[in-house]
Amino acid sequence: MEYKIGKVLISKEEIQNRIKELAEEIKRDYAGKTLVCICVLRGASVFMTDLVRAIGAEVDVRMDFMAISSYGISTKSSGVVKIQKDLTDDIHGQHVLIVEDIVDTGLSLSYLRNLLEDRNPASVKVCVLLDKIERRVKEVEVEYTGFKIPNEFVIGYGLDCAEKFRQLDQIHVAVPDGE
Ligand code: PRP
Repeated sequence: MEYKIGKVLISKEEIQNRIKELAEEIKRDYAGKTLVCICVLRGASVFMTDLVRAIGAEVDVRMDFMAISSYGISTKSSGVVKIQKDLTDDIHGQHVLIVEDIVDTGLSLSYLRNLLEDRNPASVKVCVLLDKIERRVKEVEVEYTGFKIPNEFVIGYGLDCAEKFRQLDQIHVAVPDGE
């Protein structure tokens, strides 16, 4: 099915204001420390770049990237998590912040959190922009949440529909073309 851009669910001002608040919390929690921010490609890429800039120079931020796939081209979770690209650097002894665009069933994040905890970092926390809490299948701890959202198909600000619409600067609802 083809989808088109529907109404704005979260505006760019709301996103940027919330990111500033999240960054303040993160700055307080990691002041004087080194923090490895792990961007879970591809969806989190837009959020992560705004988040690290909002954190600024008060924290010694490092960026690393990981690619996993759980959905393929379908919009439903397969429950299968595959690592397509691993981190470049060793996280042993490091404070790690997993940065995700959305937690839905929780399967991807739960898998990733366990995987990274097994590498003996100093700590692991999670920051997600969007939480579709009513879809949760697997409980997973999330320390920093941007917005709790209803169970709608959302696109923009990194989130895609068959790889389209990631470049939009706000979060929209996707609607079937023809409606
Ligand atoms: C999205 C999102 C999470 C996952 C969340 O990724 O970035 O990784 O789905 O869903 P879950 O809680 O049901 O596991 P997606 O597979 O769409 O890839 P993308 O980031 O490249 O768009």
